[in-house]
Amino acid sequence: MTTSTPTSTGTPARPARRLGDAPPAETLDPAERMSVDELRATQLERLRATLRHAYENVPHYRRAFDAAGVHPDDCRELSDIARFPTTTKADLRENYPFGMFAVPQSEVRRIHASSGTTGKPTVVGYTAQDIDNWAALIARSIRAAGGRPGHKVHNAYGYGLFTGGLGAHYGIEKLGATAIPVSGGMTPRQVQLIQDFRPEVIMLTPSYMLTLLDEFERQGIDPRATSLQVGIFGAEPWTEQMRAEIEERTGIHAVDIYGLSEVMGPGVSQECVETKDGLHIWEDHFLPEVIDPIEGTALPDGEEGELVFTSLTKQALPIIRYRTRDLTRLLPGTARPGMRRMQKITGRSDDMIILRGVNLFPTQVEEIVLRTPGCAPHFQLELTTEGRMDALTVRVEARPDTPPERRVSAAAELVQAVKDTVGVTVTCEVVDPDTLERSVGKLQRLRDRRAR
Ligand code: DLL
Repeated sequence: MTTSTPTSTGTPARPARRLGDAPPAETLDPAERMSVDELRATQLERLRATLRHAYENVPHYRRAFDAAGVHPDDCRELSDIARFPTTTKADLRENYPFGMFAVPQSEVRRIHASSGTTGKPTVVGYTAQDIDNWAALIARSIRAAGGRPGHKVHNAYGYGLFTGGLGAHYGIEKLGATAIPVSGGMTPRQVQLIQDFRPEVIMLTPSYMLTLLDEFERQGIDPRATSLQVGIFGAEPWTEQMRAEIEERTGIHAVDIYGLSEVMGPGVSQECVETKDGLHIWEDHFLPEVIDPIEGTALPDGEEGELVFTSLTKQALPIIRYRTRDLTRLLPGTARPGMRRMQKITGRSDDMIILRGVNLFPTQVEEIVLRTPGCAPHFQLELTTEGRMDALTVRVEARPDTPPERRVSAAAELVQAVKDTVGVTVTCEVVDPDTLERSVGKLQRLRDRRAR
């Protein structure tokens, strides 16, 4: 635990930053200490119950299993999961709003929805037990990140239908920490509340953290001098370079949290602060697979592909082989040896830009921007049509102290780095500081302005 020594004026001195330690073993959940064999046995039992629950209570699953010629009784070992059909966002949309629910409405205690860029949102539901499990997994995640009972947690994930705000909130309370439910937006006030309430932990998207950092600097406050010690960042892809940028500017530990509404919300997997080597999947509640995104076939652990999840304990919305579109690979456990890790997400298959036949992810541009001297971490991508070809412009802000002549060379270096690493030519404009739109939640980096 972190201690702070009161000064002679009675104000607590800045606490020593000691939150990078592993949690004491006795505070871990029993599942976090299970051996691989114990965990696999638990998963199989829960998987079989989930398949039966879905088949018996959700007409979509009964139809899909029947059409594929499989029955829940066909699942005798974990690898049998590959015989069952996958589920996509389209399946949830077609059953809008509540058609995928497996319990009577009177047992649904809460609903969340993800906005989606087009059409109907996807709607998800939770029983009292689902909410309790979710809170326990968030509590486990915050503890793995370095948070402890008694800490104050500034929660700037959006409250509402988005799972980030309320999902994190219940977990903060479950841990025995103090929730500060700020939600997103009103950035100057966020800075003031951090100064006044002195939280140890902050939870928000990494892009919104950058917005907050700018605001700290605008108000003349050194972000390294706050009470914060740990940031738990998720809901959008971010790179190791971004971790270095945030840790350098704030002095806090920056760790990754992952999740998605269809599978639960935040807290499906979490990076441990003592290793920062990818996210441990809470496998007692979720069975992960990685498949070839085109063929749909299972890939062995270690190979990159699309992440697929089956829920193992969910009552209101059991989800079978949900295709997340997120690209990663499965790795063996480290800080929690029984649970597999997923590598930091490279991107979503639907965020991939195919530029004149070459695949490019926004995270690749982020890595390059952050290692180009003179460039701030704020950038946008714009796709346009030039003649009959697609063109990509990277618009990136100069850091405030970058001299004008450096901007020209920075743009040239960035173009060259994209050419060297990705193999395609882009245009780069280094623009004035503070001119690109700032994030208050999930950041949309790409503007598609191509002629249709
Ligand atoms: O973003 C849940 C969440 C809230 C996660 C707060 C973490 C923190 P959705 O709105 O349904 O749910 O969006 C899910 O966001 O499929 C990924 O593409 C992306 N995503 C979430 N976490 C990460 C992460 C929430 N740590 C979609 N790294 C997912 C990369 C992430 N992408």
